[in-house]
Amino acid sequence: MLTDYSLKMPKTIFAGEHAIEQLKPIINSGIRKIVLFTDKSLLALGLIDLPIQLIEEAGIEYTILSDIPAEPNYHEAQAMVDAFKNEQADFIVAVGGGSVMDVAKLASISATDEYTIKDLLDDPLAAKKHVRSLMIPSTAGTGAEATPNAIVGVPEKDLKIGIVNPEMIADFVLLDGRMIKDLPKPIAAATGVDALCHAIECFTSAKANPISDTFALEALDLIMNHIIEACTNPEALEAKRSMLLGSFYAGVAITASGTTAVHALSYPLGGKYHIAHGVSNAILLTPVMRFNEPAIKELLADAYDRVIHDGDQTLSIDEKSAFMINRLENIVRILEIPTSLKTFRVPEEDLEGLVAAGMEVTRLLVNNKREVTPEDARAIYQQIL
Ligand SMILES: NC(=O)c1ccc[n+]([C@@H]2O[C@H](COP(=O)([O-])OP(=O)(O)OC[C@H]3O[C@@H](n4cnc5c(N)ncnc54)[C@H](O)[C@@H]3O)[C@@H](O)[C@H]2O)c1
Ligand SMILES: [Zn+2]
Repeated sequence: MLTDYSLKMPKTIFAGEHAIEQLKPIINSGIRKIVLFTDKSLLALGLIDLPIQLIEEAGIEYTILSDIPAEPNYHEAQAMVDAFKNEQADFIVAVGGGSVMDVAKLASISATDEYTIKDLLDDPLAAKKHVRSLMIPSTAGTGAEATPNAIVGVPEKDLKIGIVNPEMIADFVLLDGRMIKDLPKPIAAATGVDALCHAIECFTSAKANPISDTFALEALDLIMNHIIEACTNPEALEAKRSMLLGSFYAGVAITASGTTAVHALSYPLGGKYHIAHGVSNAILLTPVMRFNEPAIKELLADAYDRVIHDGDQTLSIDEKSAFMINRLENIVRILEIPTSLKTFRVPEEDLEGLVAAGMEVTRLLVNNKREVTPEDARAIYQQIL
């Protein structure tokens, strides 16, 4: 547990049944031009119709930038940032999942030509905020609406890399269950397990502290107890709202603490094979938790006491810890997320490359309570190949 800790988070958060309607009073404050970031699927699904209606009612000029691929690499993100610069906007609205929000966050610090995204990969703290931003997440989710992180693919390294700078933290967040109402099950499941990983990793991280624990445990409670219903019952709006709140809290926990070896070893899977972020985390979740168990048993037992509402308090620490890992494993199984890289035809001869790339993610590996050696990483990847 850290002895000194802090938290930075978005200034204003609206949540609940009609959060999106808050967009109008927020932008009715002397804003001249808005760029709205989204992606092509969300555009086609009509998920930006209400935000656009509200912007039009406010009489503010706007441009929609929607050429954002899922999980963009830094070249693709740079193309969007360049398009954004041409618009000379003074406010950003992002409607989408982590991919859209991360590009929007990079744009918020990139209205001038002082640095490129490639420069920020080497020196993330060089950037200052230029344009205020508002995030409306459409997955539950990355928690990107809460964090100072933007994750981009780096093709030459076969990796995904996080650019971290508090200047990117959104100014406003609107958490509205209507955004995730019709999320297709595979996307709801993968993004939901991503949020679950954020919560359990941050709670068991070497950087955990009283502030991050508060958010991580509440996130874990909301997510573990609602994820199955939210992903399998289209009408379960209350469960979906809980997921949206839980994934936001888990994002706050990332900001105050940090994810661990699940996310570290997952980045090469996204970077090289373009496996969706939530899916690669889901594949690694159980093997990494079993590897970490000797170092985090007591924490898993504490989490059991906090989030398993019909739990048996007389169980031993070992039993509570085992229960928690089994519950995580079952969630991935029930949601029918792949649990092996065989699904993605990753050849066994790629093992050494994966180990080398995974071990490069020192930013997150240092957070893991049990040290991960190259031999350990190899053993974990071998289990999922
Ligand atoms: N910044 C952070 O703190 C942070 C944290 C975790 C992950 N990430 C990054 O976020 C990205 C992943 O984001 P994601 O998991 O939210 O997915 P995504 O944004 O890549 O979206 C995945 C797919 O779901 C579709 N989609 C999104 N919302 C939908 C909706 N409501 N209905 C129907 N379809 C919808 C999108 O169009 C896309 O095709 C990765 O690049 C990951 O590395 C960032
Ligand atoms: Zn994640």
